[in-house]
Amino acid sequence: MPDTHDVSTPLTPAASADLTPAANVSSDEEMWDIVDHHLVRYGGSFAPRLIERARGSYLYDRQGRKILDFTSGQMCATLGHNHPDVVQAIHKACEDVLHLFSGMLSPTVVELADSLCQLLPPALQKALFLNTGSEANEAALRMAKLHTGGFEVVGLSASWHGMTAGASASTFVSARKGYGPTMPGNLALPTPNCYRCPIRHCQDQCDMTCLEVGLDLVDSQSVGAYAALIVEPVLSAGGVVVPPEGYFQRLQAYCQERGMLLILDEAQTAFGRLGSFFAFEQLGLVPDILTLSKTLGGGLPLAATVTSEAIEVDCYEKGFIYYTSHVSDPMPAAVGLAVLRVLAGQNLAEQATTMGAYLKDGLLKLKDRYEAIGDVRGRGLLLGVELVKDRTTREPDPEKGAAITRRCLKLGLSMNITALPGMGSVWRIAPPLTVTYEELDEGLAILDQAIRDCQ
Ligand SMILES: Cc1ncc(COP(=O)(O)O)c(C=O)c1O
Repeated sequence: MPDTHDVSTPLTPAASADLTPAANVSSDEEMWDIVDHHLVRYGGSFAPRLIERARGSYLYDRQGRKILDFTSGQMCATLGHNHPDVVQAIHKACEDVLHLFSGMLSPTVVELADSLCQLLPPALQKALFLNTGSEANEAALRMAKLHTGGFEVVGLSASWHGMTAGASASTFVSARKGYGPTMPGNLALPTPNCYRCPIRHCQDQCDMTCLEVGLDLVDSQSVGAYAALIVEPVLSAGGVVVPPEGYFQRLQAYCQERGMLLILDEAQTAFGRLGSFFAFEQLGLVPDILTLSKTLGGGLPLAATVTSEAIEVDCYEKGFIYYTSHVSDPMPAAVGLAVLRVLAGQNLAEQATTMGAYLKDGLLKLKDRYEAIGDVRGRGLLLGVELVKDRTTREPDPEKGAAITRRCLKLGLSMNITALPGMGSVWRIAPPLTVTYEELDEGLAILDQAIRDCQ
């Protein structure tokens, strides 16, 4: 029997805590001391600058120093940071309604459904509004399982679909080790990365042998209960890998032959980034389920799972549940509406094509000058730059990648580098779609100097 606690001795010092703003004004040093003492490190170490303000393509630290953001935050702020229409939508939602009982709808949610579905083809007219990309994929996988009666999910070996149980089980690029069993039935296909052919067959041009070999392997491991295949149009976290022409058609045919659903995860690619409103337009197919997240909220947590009426009706009849505290919340919906209206009003997809070509050209010029750059790839304003020790062996250079990335930040440019075992060290470059030529020139000049400084 444990000792009972004497309630007259408080377990926490809550009563004496001083939470007035003045008591919390701290120097940078004190701030970092608090970080060390009180924040869980959820993804390696934190970037060494505290960001106090953000506008357009720039972040500003506590000292007011400007940092050009070549990652659109976490690939979400496609309209730039704190877009005035997004800010206005938040203000209005604060006056109207922020949050409701999950089974209750607000006019903003209805209007968002209407606006979003006007942009989508007839086979994608039923939307569920959630908050994160993980959740959107989780809901998609649950729908696919309920609809098909199967449970097996096929994903690509360099995929990232999120951190919730189902989404992380089909995430193969990293974050798998040390957490015990994943959901049963998750099978991986090799990623068609022609710079690092997964089956050591092609070089620089994928002939899709990896896909045929992979599909055979998946079929041989399957227990005959397929539910879905989930895939990103461009594998972003996996090193900005653009699958070859015809790849997605083959995946779709494979799904149709087996009665499984094709889920397209457009967390990063929807709403202009690749040069079209949705990436599936460029792929020439309509998925059974489309998941949207990051770019739908322009920096606020809004995501959607969109499917056909037939799948929705079937799932509803089978008792589909995806009930969260913030499903259909009015405030993020108001933001999503603002994002869609800005996107419709400005041709940001075209902007992504033009600015992306300009940026790619600048990066290719850097490649001409620096041996460390092994490859420049990507589409629209989602570009990848791979760093190598040697262009012939293509040995990755994660140390140099990390050093240049740190130097860039010191010089005022925020860059995101992935350094995954066996996958190389790749910058994912994705500025806001509203970026200007001057800003691209500034970023390229900083990158040039940072590479030179780290030779
Ligand atoms: C393609 C893709 N899908 C899903 C997710 C997960 O989204 P979230 O982090 O909002 O849960 C991400 C996040 O990076 C992603 O890149």
